[in-house]
Amino acid sequence: MKSIQLGNTQWYYEEKGTGKPLVLVHGFPMDHRIWKDQLEGLCGVYRVIAVDLKGFGKSRSSEAFTIDSMADELVAFMKAANAYPCVLAGLSMGGYIALSLAVRHPEALTGLIIVSSKSEADTPAGKEGRQKLAQLAQEKGSIAVAEQMLPRVLTEETIKGNPELVSKMRQIMEACPANTIANASFAMRERADRTADLPGLKMPVLVVLGERDSLLPGEGGRKLAEACAHGRLVVVEGAGHVPCMENPKATNAALAEFVR
Ligand code: MLT
Repeated sequence: MKSIQLGNTQWYYEEKGTGKPLVLVHGFPMDHRIWKDQLEGLCGVYRVIAVDLKGFGKSRSSEAFTIDSMADELVAFMKAANAYPCVLAGLSMGGYIALSLAVRHPEALTGLIIVSSKSEADTPAGKEGRQKLAQLAQEKGSIAVAEQMLPRVLTEETIKGNPELVSKMRQIMEACPANTIANASFAMRERADRTADLPGLKMPVLVVLGERDSLLPGEGGRKLAEACAHGRLVVVEGAGHVPCMENPKATNAALAEFVR
């Protein structure tokens, strides 16, 4: 893996291929490894860069952050990695960050891909859930959080029929530090509602949704695609919250088509 020092944090990332940069931002509580099939499958189309956000994966940090501050740091990362401007894809929490970046740093993006995410802020019940999850992480650790999240991000079919994928996702989630889980929960709880900003986005936007996402059901993503001036929607068959792992073939086809 390559790395770049930004402030107090060494940001780790994996890259493959040449050409137009595609920066991939993982969800919560995950890291760059969810994009393995995109690094391999899209390196002929893009220069694919999958990053571990500050605090996640190998990019160790215990600093608190907000969705907007992470977006600002991601711009610094893109510049340092010579991937500015780029096509930016963010999954779920990564999508919140990508949207914040698109609204606040539009010049940084030639295209925006939002995977399994939405523009709305948390509901009051959602905000309470963040507090509980942060507490679970701090009291019982990442293993307990992974146990709770796994059946929410993967479909029942994946859980029953693809033990290899389940174990990969479990490893990724269990490796996320408890302190990062708490920091990210609070960051997501406090994030701004970006819905009103969508019609003003000038860049092409692709929204990719898993057909059977039970964590963030498709309605939010559909509204997002409709509200953007240049929005397109692709629904990935058979996938839950993490279509890049559950149906990489269809996800890669959508991402490759977007660059054309
Ligand atoms: C994610 O997958 O990044 C998060 O679960 C999204 C969320 O909880 O809002």
